[in-house]
Amino acid sequence: MEQREKREELKQMLKRLHEAKPEELATVKKEAAKYFKDTDPKELALAEQELIQEGTKREEMKRLCDVHLEVMKEQLGAKAKALKLPPSHPISICKDEHTIIKRNLKKLKNTLGKIKKATSFDKAKHQIDTLKELSHFFMETEKHHQREEEAIFPRLEAHGVVEPPQIFKEDHVEFMAKKKGLKEIVMNTEQVEFSKFLETVAPIIEFLTKKLEEHIYKEDNILYPMAYETLEKGEWVEVRKKFDAIGYCCFAPADLKKKNKKGVTKKRKR
Ligand SMILES: [Fe+2]
Ligand SMILES: [Fe+2]
Repeated sequence: MEQREKREELKQMLKRLHEAKPEELATVKKEAAKYFKDTDPKELALAEQELIQEGTKREEMKRLCDVHLEVMKEQLGAKAKALKLPPSHPISICKDEHTIIKRNLKKLKNTLGKIKKATSFDKAKHQIDTLKELSHFFMETEKHHQREEEAIFPRLEAHGVVEPPQIFKEDHVEFMAKKKGLKEIVMNTEQVEFSKFLETVAPIIEFLTKKLEEHIYKEDNILYPMAYETLEKGEWVEVRKKFDAIGYCCFAPADLKKKNKKGVTKKRKR
């Protein structure tokens, strides 16, 4: 009963954040920050899920997520950091991959900045080559999303956490479309004028660098800690097996590469 009441309160707080007028937002945010202090990521996810089930559109929820994430940033970050797992744990693998993805998102952003200053394909040749490499890299990240979707999400759903995986899956679909778009345009530069190229490529890169970075932040700080709390210990062994079966990206974290070289992962499979 107490938990029920707490969840209702949490939902009210989320609604207030959502409905606050711009002039009230700062005050409501302050109040919410105090309230969220003792809220764990799983409770937050379940409260969001109930709001969706009660009629809040998923799109609106995503917007709302950004607001309460901002409010909870510090607290969530501290909690996520406190979660210490061995490098072989599926969550560690995903987080290590995120670090590599984020590094390349930064590179993508910087490259776009340089291309914007160039006036022709000739002057931007080096940067276009970098974009080609990066577009391959981002296509490679699909395995990462696939492992999240096929190994972790179904288990969360089986534990009743249904909505958050849906939100993340929708993001993955959007990212895939943008990544394909990026590859398409950078591999076919001879077919367009430089100005047209820039006009097309800039919004794709701007979308990816912003949204994928946010997506990763939410996974590292909310989804993964919540998944860790939700799944039973033995389930993580199964998740890892499924990870191995799906396979890894070409930029597998160093620890995993070492293991593959020594054949540890293979031995485990047998
Ligand atoms: Fe994801
Ligand atoms: Fe991810």
